[in-house]
Amino acid sequence: MPNALLETRTAVRPFAGIIGAEVDCGIVQQLDDATFAELHRACLDHLVVLIRGQSLSIPDLLAFGRRFGELSPAAPVHKGQKPREYPELAVISNVVENGVAIGGLGDGEAVWHSDSCFNDIPPSFSILHSLEIPPAGGDTGFSNMYAALETLPPELLRAVRGKTIKHDLRYTSGGQLRPGYTGQEDIRTTPGPRHPVIRRHPDTGCDALYLGRRPYAVITEVSAGESEALLDALWAHAAGPTLSWHHQWRVGDILIWDNRCVMHRRDAFDPASRRIMHRTQCMGTLPIEGDGETAARHPRSH
Ligand code: OGA
Ligand code: MN
Repeated sequence: MPNALLETRTAVRPFAGIIGAEVDCGIVQQLDDATFAELHRACLDHLVVLIRGQSLSIPDLLAFGRRFGELSPAAPVHKGQKPREYPELAVISNVVENGVAIGGLGDGEAVWHSDSCFNDIPPSFSILHSLEIPPAGGDTGFSNMYAALETLPPELLRAVRGKTIKHDLRYTSGGQLRPGYTGQEDIRTTPGPRHPVIRRHPDTGCDALYLGRRPYAVITEVSAGESEALLDALWAHAAGPTLSWHHQWRVGDILIWDNRCVMHRRDAFDPASRRIMHRTQCMGTLPIEGDGETAARHPRSH
């Protein structure tokens, strides 16, 4: 008789290193609740999950995303963008049709970031599905922020405990100014929330570094000079190669990542080639502060 305790509906294969797993779960449009629960668990356990070989229409992707939680509307790609049929869909693409970009993020490098950290309530999961990929470049890297916190030198941990980062709403992660901003605004008063540097994950209960993005960030409780020095030290540590995994895309891939404990970045690629991805994001919860000491340690962080 099969051992019921060992019976699973998915195959979860963790990647070497400290982040990510590939999950075989069959066709994502057809997951029953028990299979979905295993996939959701894998996302919390491994921070980033890869599912290969999928083909989702826009409604399919949004329906899949809703199983992880309520979806959040995507930011407009350009000023005056017409009301969209699917407000919760973001097209991530460099393709230009009739002089108009069909999506955001272009073909340049997207620096390390956690999605929409500049919102009061940043998203929990992001789900990205690849439709067209360039022959080379455009890889996406992911970095484990539980591990970044756990390996933080003690003096740096003491220096950031109880501190918050002001996140800047003006720029996209591809470095483009959003509609309505000039770039001349004073950094200390730019629109954007403050979030704790040490964040307690509401589902795992574990603490992670929550840095958002390096450009224009400020630690508001200290002087501008101290803030720069602290952020430089934090980023030198958190963007280090030992904490990350890089994905080379195939058409049909889905990547699901948890913005509460993961940062990601994207390599540039040849502007002459096409890359088209569809993304949706789940509404998160207000970031809550951790102390980097009393929380449980995440199993993938050491
Ligand atoms: C995103 C993002 C990276 C990529 O969609 O939030 O950062 O590889 N995408 O397209
Ligand atoms: Mn992103």
